[in-house]
Amino acid sequence: MALRNIVLEGDEILRKRAREVAEINSHVCMILDDMLETMREHDGVGLAAPQVGIMKRMLIVEVDEQIIELINPEIIETDGIQIEDEGCLSIPGRIGTVERPAYIKIKGLNREGQEVTYEGTGLLSVALSHEYDHLEGILYTDKASNVREPENRDR
Ligand code: CO
Repeated sequence: MALRNIVLEGDEILRKRAREVAEINSHVCMILDDMLETMREHDGVGLAAPQVGIMKRMLIVEVDEQIIELINPEIIETDGIQIEDEGCLSIPGRIGTVERPAYIKIKGLNREGQEVTYEGTGLLSVALSHEYDHLEGILYTDKASNVREPENRDR
């Protein structure tokens, strides 16, 4: 595995729609491994492939020790709303308040090429929604009501 550089806000890569993964091969698996290592290095809870410069529809999320990898994900259901602060590894040093689905159901392929479905609430729903948006070229700041620097205090 290898750390990859995170693409920062302002780079056009983050504004493009990522393309479908046509074939799941060792290269795709290596990208997923690198994404996980890179996300953990930066204490993130999710990362999308465009954030490491790969314009493919792949995302990872790690919440409550559950690692979710999705290739060519599709959101198949959402319900309710939750309004929470969130940040993004591509927009360091800032947070914003965003309305996200309270519940999300998402499907995609795993690295074995099998179709998998996940359901999430709370932070998991936020993270899946946030990372899916990256594949559409959407950043949380497009939806946030008050992007700001986080208060510098322990929580
Ligand atoms: Co992000």
